[in-house]
Amino acid sequence: MTRIHIDLSGVPETLLIPLYCRAVESQRPDALIKDERAVALMNRIDYDFSGIGFSAADMLFTVMRVREFDRRTQAFLAAHPDGTVVSIGCGLDTRFDRVAERNGTVAWYDLDLPEVIALRRQLLAETPRCRFIGCSVLDFAWMDLVGGDTKRPFLFLAEGVFPYFGEAEVKQVVLALQERFPGAELVFDAMTPFMAWLNGLHPPIRKLHTNLWGIKRSQGLEAWSPGVRLLDEWFYFDRPEPRLGRTRLLRFVPLLNKGSSIVHYRLDPRSFQ
Ligand SMILES: C[S@@+](CC[C@H](N)C(=O)[O-])C[C@H]1O[C@@H](n2cnc3c(N)ncnc32)[C@H](O)[C@@H]1O
Repeated sequence: MTRIHIDLSGVPETLLIPLYCRAVESQRPDALIKDERAVALMNRIDYDFSGIGFSAADMLFTVMRVREFDRRTQAFLAAHPDGTVVSIGCGLDTRFDRVAERNGTVAWYDLDLPEVIALRRQLLAETPRCRFIGCSVLDFAWMDLVGGDTKRPFLFLAEGVFPYFGEAEVKQVVLALQERFPGAELVFDAMTPFMAWLNGLHPPIRKLHTNLWGIKRSQGLEAWSPGVRLLDEWFYFDRPEPRLGRTRLLRFVPLLNKGSSIVHYRLDPRSFQ
């Protein structure tokens, strides 16, 4: 089979990082996640993955993030089997296959920039239950495509996406979701400003010449609107993964211990007060 040449740059090119992490992890005997499709995708893509320059610990953190997003999506689908899931900035992720393939009632949408969805269509099949949308999340036209039945429970996922935005853009998206999808849940990964700076030193991020977005406290988003409520926050070192080895000691460094998280909000145009 001919390999597909990747012609992405800027933030879209970063989709290859989690793809690589999922694929490498899946081939380990002690894998935390299994994603055979990621392995197949990596083998079909003509790209120098060695240039990503992630350490074993960086890769493991990425895989822990994938696992936690998967768990939260599974929990949502267990509670709302007929819900709608929208993966914002999906890249070449195949979470639908990992957690929802056997669910016969979910409506799933994978959303990313047009050039990324064009690549996705070359490599993966769109199905009636898992649709692709080529549109910037900042162009709210996509909300009409997924919002047919706003009575369905909605889960919005944004994995590895918002840190590339400015705070004003994240706020715009959060407030638009809150207005349009009452009661929706939103899960994304967040960092403190210090961690954002530190993560910006990774070679594939440094070449973007951009500052990653960080927020001091996840509760800070609640000040954006009384209809934004933090439900839960997950930290990488809460239950340190044994495979992290000595990296687990970083949990004793105050700036690092709670520096990166996965945050889970409920959004509602009505106030929660
Ligand atoms: C680090 S990748 C993460 C991909 C995927 N979520 C994963 O974990 O494999 C960041 C993704 O955000 C997407 N992205 C960046 N800006 C976007 C925008 N304005 N609208 C939608 N997606 C965007 C990129 O194209 C890229 O696929």
